[in-house]
Order: sequence, then C-alpha cells, then structure tokens
Amino acid sequence: MYNFTLYMPTRIHFGKGQISHLSELRESGTKVLLVYGGGSIKRNGIYDTAVDILKKAGLTIYDLPGVEPNPRIESVRKGVEKCKAEGIDMTLAIGGGSTIDCAKVVAAGAKYDGDPWDLVLDRSLIKSALPIYSVVTLAATGSEMNPSAVISDFTKHEKWGTSAPALVPTMSILDPTYTFSVSKRQTAAGTADIMSHTFENYFSFENADVQKAFGEALLKVLIKNGPIALAEPDNYDARASLMWAATHAINGLTKMGNAPAWCVHPMEHELSAFYDITHGVGLAILTPVWMEHILSERTAPIFAAYGRNVWGVTAADDMTAAKAAIEKTKEFLFETLELPSSLRAAGINDKNNIEAMAEKASRKTAQSFVPLTQADIREIYEAAF
Ligand code: NZQ
Ligand code: ZN
Repeated sequence: MYNFTLYMPTRIHFGKGQISHLSELRESGTKVLLVYGGGSIKRNGIYDTAVDILKKAGLTIYDLPGVEPNPRIESVRKGVEKCKAEGIDMTLAIGGGSTIDCAKVVAAGAKYDGDPWDLVLDRSLIKSALPIYSVVTLAATGSEMNPSAVISDFTKHEKWGTSAPALVPTMSILDPTYTFSVSKRQTAAGTADIMSHTFENYFSFENADVQKAFGEALLKVLIKNGPIALAEPDNYDARASLMWAATHAINGLTKMGNAPAWCVHPMEHELSAFYDITHGVGLAILTPVWMEHILSERTAPIFAAYGRNVWGVTAADDMTAAKAAIEKTKEFLFETLELPSSLRAAGINDKNNIEAMAEKASRKTAQSFVPLTQADIREIYEAAF
C-alpha cells in the first residue's frame, strides 16, 4: 500500500426527506444558481420541493436548466456568465452526474478570469470555486463526494475530466426515493458505471487488502441490488444500497494507496466524445473486452481472486478461475442488466474514428494496471464491435 492523504470534507445527508437540509445553503450566502437537466426534476416534483425550501430559507434562485447528459462546455459558459453577472454565491445541482459536474465547473469558472474550457484542459488553473451543493437523483458517478468533473466540447469531439480540491461539494443530499423514477436503462447504466469505478481501483498489483476487500463488498452489493432495482424501481433498500455504493466507489476510499491510473474510463470517454453514448453503456461494452485483452499469467491471480471472492468461483487453477470471472461479468452486464453487448448494439456502426479515439485515450493509459498503448486500445475497440 503506498502513501496517501485522504480528505473527504463533503457533508452527506442520506435518506428520505433529507432535502429539508437545503436550508443550510444560507451558510454560503443568499444567491444560488440552480443547475438541472432536461426536466426530470420537474416531472417528479423535486424541483418544486427544493424551490419552496430555498425560498423559505431566504435564498434567491437563478436557474440554469437544460444541462445535457455528457454536459457541454456551452452550458458551463452560460452558467459562468450568469454567476458573474448576478454576483451569485453558490451553485446547487439537482440531478445526475452531468448536472453536478456542470455545477462544479461553473463554480470554478465563476472565480476564473478566462474561458472555463481552460479549467477542463488544465486542472492546475482551478485555484478556487464557489461553494458547490448537490441533490443526487441518479446513483452512478459519485460526483456528489469527489473532486472530479467531466465536460465535453462536441465541436472538437473532446471529453475530458478535470479535478481539484475546490470542486469537492460542500454538502450533498442523497435521498434514495429520488431515484425511483430513473428508467431501467439508466439504472442499469448507473450500476455498470459504479462497477467500473470499483474495477478501475480494484485491479492493481498493490497489496492493499482493505481497499480490495472494500471493492469486493461494493461489487457484491451491486450484483445483489442492481437486478432488484430493475425489477422493483421503488424498492427503497435496493435504491439506497446502489446510491451509497455509488458514492463510496469513487470517493477515494478504494483508490487511495491502491490504484494505478484508470484505463477503461479514458477509452469510454472517447466513445462519448465521438458518439455521445451513455457513459455506463460504453463502460459495460468495453469492460469485458479489456479484461480479456489484459488476461495473462501475470494478471490471472487478480482476476481469479475477483472471481472467487465476488462470484464464488471454485476453480483451483487461476487461469480457469479468471476466465470464469470474466464470463460472470459478461452475463451480469449483458443478460441480467440487459445492457448492449457491443458497440454495434449501442448504435455505433462506423469504425471511422477508432484511430483518433485510440490516440487520445492512450494519453491517459501509460500508467494503468496493465499499460495500454495506442495499438492495444485500437484492438480493444475493434473487439468491442
Ligand atoms: O436531464 P434530466 O431530465 O434530469 O434526465 C436525466 C438524463 O437524461 C436522467 N435522470 C437523472 N435522474 C433522474 C433521471 N430520470 C428520471 N428520474 C430521475 N431521478 O438520466 C439521464 C442521465 O443523467 P446523467 O446526469 O447524464 O447521468 P449520470 O449520473 O450517469 O452522469 C453521467 C456523466 O457523468 C460523467 C460521465 O462521463 C457523464 O458525462 N462522470 C462523472 C464522474 C465524476 N464527476 O466523478 C465520474 C464518472 O466516471 C463519469 O465519467
Ligand atoms: Zn464512470
């Protein structure tokens, strides 16, 4: 286990009815930018509830609606302009990871004298940000308790993550009932995303028993509760387990002291940048192909441990157990969660961008569990068709 410093200052209010804590935003001032997506929060009533609480607490609300899944830099720019023009004190995202990520970069952009895209390309420029708050409505990205944000510029087919201590939310509200209305497809994609965050941290050569055992526990929670949430969207306990697993999979607990650079995420971000596909769907397609690509005598013991500890695989031989674990992963993603099993099945029919995507993704994968070159990534994309 290597050295690390972990600091997770986000105040979490978890459970039914915790939205009442929105009144605490008064601690950061009186003007709040309310950032949300395409309308789900208006359809399920969360918007009205939130506005009521904020107004009663004496806050003035400025709306930034219409944040896209795979949020665009254009939305960030709009938010920054509003913050600067109105002297806004804080941002509040209500929605999935896309709205939270947008609210984060808006908050940093409000304190930056230049184009906020600079902050996406160069995280060292993020010196400060307005206080960031969130109400999570989809269990997936863990953005509610981490320092990261992922923003796209589709005019250039670019999607990059940025990260800075100033982007860690001050407070997040996690009410599992708010995820009852998430569609089957998004529930499955969110589960695949949480699973991928856990894998990105789990597959390492470090002897980090605590982090690995925690990762295995998270995976078991997902394997148990993902299917329940699909069958019974309003099952509180299943939704609560998915929501809390999402937060922990990417708040640093399983990564620190353990994980090398991530690699499936950079490959997926290119798919989203070029084809605007759902993040969790891209991850589900790439994950088993990546596992097969890097399976070797050296990595087999780690895949075998995953198979034995998570799936109850009994094979004594590591390579046999590793292969069984990868098959179990495929069955879960493609049969149980019913996610598309290939890029074609996800609607990507051309191979025109493989080389460009492989080149960009390879900028991030030299230090991963098994380092991936541009040629490796090209092969993984080809095998995913
Ligand atoms: O836009 P609305 O109308 O709100 O609908 C959204 C959207 O269409 C809908 N939705 C959300 N909550 C709902 C709901 N529909 C019904 N009921 C609800 N309660 O779901 C759709 C997807 O929302 P989105 O926010 O895009 O999903 P997700 O949370 O999966 O976020 C994905 C984005 O986060 C990035 C991804 O790359 C992608 O851009 N990531 C952010 C990370 C981070 N900040 O740490 C890490 C991740 O690995 C990831 O890269
Ligand atoms: Zn992810």
